Amino acid sequence: MENIVVIGGGTMGNGIAHTAAATGFEVTLVEVAQELLDRALSTVSKNLQRGVDKGKMTASERDAILSRIRPTIDMQSIGNADIVIEAIMENLEAKTQLFARLDAITKPECILASNTSSISITKIAAATRRPEKVIGMHFMNPVPVMTLVEVIRGIATSDETYQRVEDLSKRMGKTPIEVNDYPGFISNRVLMPMINEAIFALYEGVATRESIDGVMKLGMNHPMGPLTLADFIGLDVCLAILRVLESGFGDPKYRPCPLLVKMVDAGWLGRKSGRGFYRY
Ligand code: CAA
Repeated sequence: MENIVVIGGGTMGNGIAHTAAATGFEVTLVEVAQELLDRALSTVSKNLQRGVDKGKMTASERDAILSRIRPTIDMQSIGNADIVIEAIMENLEAKTQLFARLDAITKPECILASNTSSISITKIAAATRRPEKVIGMHFMNPVPVMTLVEVIRGIATSDETYQRVEDLSKRMGKTPIEVNDYPGFISNRVLMPMINEAIFALYEGVATRESIDGVMKLGMNHPMGPLTLADFIGLDVCLAILRVLESGFGDPKYRPCPLLVKMVDAGWLGRKSGRGFYRY
C-alpha cells in the first residue's frame, strides 16, 4: 500500500501528511482551496523546521520530506489511491457526503479511513458500497509527536482492511491499537470524562485552574493538565465529543459541565481563539 491520500489540511490532516512523508511515503494532500493548501504546507514546513533548528534534521532532509507531499485541489485526481485518510471537519453529513463521493472516485480495493475523533465509523461506512473497507484511523495531536493510532473497526470492517491499516500505521512509525466502534472509541471515552470532571471541579470552586492542572501534571505525570489540554484540543471539540457520548450512551454521567457550554457559547474555544481556561 503506497499511494496515500489525505483529505483536509487542518491540524490533523497536515500532521498526517507530514508523518507519512517523513516516513518515506509519497502522499497527496487534498484541500478545497489553494489558500488552505498553502497554509497546510507552511505549517508542515514550520513543524519540520523545529527539527532543523535542533540539529535533528538537515535543511535538505526537510526539503525532501516536503517534496514528497503533493498538494492538490482536484479531488477527481485521486482515483489511483490505495488508501484515503479523511481529516475534514467533524460533521456527520459532511463526512457521509465525502465518503459517498470517495466511493465513486476511487478504485474498488482502496481503503477509506477516517480520522474522526467521535463520529461512528459504522455510520460513515454505510454511506459507501464498501463498508468492509471503511475503518477509523484516529491520530492524536500533535500527529508527528504522538505515537498512537487508534484503529477503529466498524461493524462491517474486514480483517484484511484492519491488517492493512495496522501495517501502514507501523510503517508510519506509529503504534496501532485496535478498538471497536462505540461512542468516543477508547481515547475520548476515557479522556473527555476526565476533562469534564476537571471543569466541574473548577466550576464548583474546588481549586483554581492552575491547581487542577498542577495536581494532574505533578501527581499523575500527565504532560499537560486537563484544562490546558482542553484548550489545546479546542473547547468546542470537547463539547461536541461529550454530546456524542451523552446521546450515544443515553447516560447522564457524560453531561457536559455548564461552564464548558457557556465558554463555547462565548466563543472562548481555547488556544485557537486566543482564550479558553487560559489566555494565549
Ligand atoms: N509538529 C512536530 N513536532 C512537534 C509539534 C508539532 N506540531 N509540537 C511539538 N513538537 C515536538 C517538538 O519539536 C519537540 O521535539 P523534540 O523532543 O525532538 O525536541 C517535542 O515535540 C516536544 O515539544 P516541546 O518541547 O515544544 O514541548 P513539550 O515538551 O511541552 O511537549 C506536547 C508538547 C508534545 C504537545 C506535550 O505537551 C504533550 O504531549 N501534550 C499532550 C498532548 C495530548 O494529550 N494529545 C492528545 C490530544 S487528544 C487528541 O488529539 C484526540 C482527540 O480526539 C481529541
